[in-house]
Amino acid sequence: MPSSKKAYQAMLALVDETGTGPVIDFGSGWGNFVIPMAKCKPQRQIIGYEMSLLPWLISTLLKKIWRLNNLTLYRQNFYQVNFPAAAVIVCYLYPQAMSKIKHKLLHEQPNVDFLISNNFALPSCQPEKIIPLDDFYKSPVYLYKMAKIKS
Ligand SMILES: C[S@@+](CC[C@H](N)C(=O)[O-])C[C@H]1O[C@@H](n2cnc3c(N)ncnc32)[C@H](O)[C@@H]1O
Repeated sequence: MPSSKKAYQAMLALVDETGTGPVIDFGSGWGNFVIPMAKCKPQRQIIGYEMSLLPWLISTLLKKIWRLNNLTLYRQNFYQVNFPAAAVIVCYLYPQAMSKIKHKLLHEQPNVDFLISNNFALPSCQPEKIIPLDDFYKSPVYLYKMAKIKS
């Protein structure tokens, strides 16, 4: 299920508070977040990882149509990837994935600066910000500053 328009707009607004590092979508799906993000921030490097073939193909086609040279889409499992320094992770996944991501960001990839999650919280971690959405799902979007969580 892709992020709603209100959700991806809230996520785009939160990305503005994360500096200049690369923005990485864990499970970029049909491109509902990465395509508008790459369009409105052409100076920022945007990366998406997606395992499912059809959403990856469609989002890759949209990237080509819109000539989004700052967007790279990999058909790959994000758990198996190493990230650049000062990265901002964005995700819309499910509770078990958030526990795995917490472990990865705290113990395997401590160079990630921020995590933005649509709907699902990072277990037992204090968010820097919560944006409640006025949409059909009434779901929150969370911003975490990883340095605070590690301290
Ligand atoms: C709920 S969708 C969100 C899509 C997009 N991020 C958005 O906000 O619209 C989650 C996506 O993550 C993908 N996914 C789940 N686990 C993954 C993994 N380990 N590696 C890559 N993609 C994954 C799924 O195939 C699905 O397309």
